[in-house]
Amino acid sequence: MCGIVGYTGPKQAYPIILKGLKRLEYRGYDSSGVALLHNGKLDVYKKKGKVAQLEESLVGVNVHAHIGIGHTRWATHGEPSDRNSHPHTSSSGRLSMIHNGIIENYAQLKKELLSKNYTFTSDTDTEVLLNFIEDILLNNNCTLEEAVRIALKRITGAYCILLLDEQDPETIIAARKGSPLVIGIGKGEHFLASDASPIIEYTKEVVYVNDYELAIVRPNELILKNIGNEKITPFITKLDMELAAIEKGGYDHFMLKEIYEQPSTIQDCLRGRLHAEDGTITMAGIDDNIEQIKNAERIMIVACGTSWHAGLVAEYIIEELCRIPVEVEYASEFRYRNPIVNKGDVIIAISQSGETADTLVALEKAKENGAFIFGVVNAVGSSIARISHAGAYTHAGHEIGVASTKAFTGQLVVLTMMALRIAIQKETITQERYLHLLTELADVPEKVDAILKNAEHIKTIALKYKDAHDFLFLGRGYNFPIALEGALKLKEISYIHAEGYPAAEMKHGPIALVDENLPVVFIATKDSYHEKIVSNMQEIKARKGKIISIITEGDDISPTLSNDCIFIPPADELIAPIISVIPLQLLSYFTGIAKGIDVDKPRNLAKSVTVE
Ligand code: M6R
Repeated sequence: MCGIVGYTGPKQAYPIILKGLKRLEYRGYDSSGVALLHNGKLDVYKKKGKVAQLEESLVGVNVHAHIGIGHTRWATHGEPSDRNSHPHTSSSGRLSMIHNGIIENYAQLKKELLSKNYTFTSDTDTEVLLNFIEDILLNNNCTLEEAVRIALKRITGAYCILLLDEQDPETIIAARKGSPLVIGIGKGEHFLASDASPIIEYTKEVVYVNDYELAIVRPNELILKNIGNEKITPFITKLDMELAAIEKGGYDHFMLKEIYEQPSTIQDCLRGRLHAEDGTITMAGIDDNIEQIKNAERIMIVACGTSWHAGLVAEYIIEELCRIPVEVEYASEFRYRNPIVNKGDVIIAISQSGETADTLVALEKAKENGAFIFGVVNAVGSSIARISHAGAYTHAGHEIGVASTKAFTGQLVVLTMMALRIAIQKETITQERYLHLLTELADVPEKVDAILKNAEHIKTIALKYKDAHDFLFLGRGYNFPIALEGALKLKEISYIHAEGYPAAEMKHGPIALVDENLPVVFIATKDSYHEKIVSNMQEIKARKGKIISIITEGDDISPTLSNDCIFIPPADELIAPIISVIPLQLLSYFTGIAKGIDVDKPRNLAKSVTVE
């Protein structure tokens, strides 16, 4: 993970880098640092803690420079500390480097360097790579660009690196493999960053650097080469993103803003695709590949975390509507367990960031085996979007809060539309049910809005249970993955231990946890499982568990069994997950806030997990 920023041009580099690091803090925030090059001298400042602590430590310091690089870290090698923070400086002091990724063979390289009397001031793999580059530079009488190229051919792992050289006052050398890099093209200046958010207010013209590419960046020049030293013409993309999208817009936290954006992000996701009035769904990625997808013998879904939960909902929906067998895989398992992937297999990759390392590598492997990759991705132009054969963006806009909210509902909406589109083509759904579900989907934004208006009530419940040590989340059918998602959300931003379970499975073990201190959240909307889940509530009540239920307006049985109820508007059971997750997002948010946690940047986490 980690966020990186670089600038070279006529402006002051430090304020640009600092602002950029604040925008990229969602990628990691255990320490940060900057390297500024001025008058042939490299000044490196770094600090354990959030970017604000670095900023504070630099008040009154002369940070004048027109070129610099900055880093906000999510620790991999070496604990979060000042000395392990980036940028790192090479042994001679000539080079400074920041890195996002992991150098897997760093131990071997370090051994080689130690035998040449190199010393190290940190525990990081980054410092090893930097000294390895310097060693090549000094012993081969070559340029820094060549030294970087030679070094990168020897390393295994993932990286996005930016390098400054004291002897080159205008140039940043950058390279990537597996970790993202965007270069913004200004007038006589260039910006480099892990994503476009630090760049957006200066220019909308960007180049997404690909794996195994190296960039030599000067104020008036951008040279792109592959690792074999062949020049590549930079492909300039216009950013379709507004500054307001990456600011809090009056909300206390990005997470709250993103929860409240859902009526409009879901609308954006439906727009131009769902035409409820004439009974059609238009999705170019599906339409163009409909024969392959509808005739697939099975579909595999590969994802991590919240995106994996969206995959589980999709499994239920696709199997129900399209009658195609679906397997949902954790990307981290899939990539290593030698799965059977054949030519023509359809793989749906789900990812908010489009940069999750495990998902990306899993897809690369499946693609090599001839699978057809369909990306359901939020971040436009991201690596997963680019390696997919076809796809559908979730159009949820930039998601900054570490806990995924609006991207998840966007994923559910896209996956549901996909299933409907395939099912109508395959004739595995009746026209009547199809039209009904289209109308139900179109009504989702309004229903989400209604739940958001009930936030104060959800806050009261959060305050009541905030001191619990454990939570259990139970659901059945389409709401089972929502129970998993509710538990994940609570864990992430309140640090309360929580487990999600299929409600009926609870009696095979977790029921042993139930006593008067355990809050049990039931996602028990009116569906074909309702009577069954009411019986599960009885089982919890009989053991004195505290029941918080998410139930459908008009349900008069569940309230008699519950300590607290959150009513949500009625919806078809297949659509219900998109709205039943909203109260769980709010419950977690208010619990995290009540416990004084920085919900946008909870401990140990990072938004975009670009390491395995
Ligand atoms: O960007 P991705 O959707 O690929 O990320 C996958 C997970 O890392 C992500 O969903 C994570 O679990 C979130 N923090 C959940 O809120």
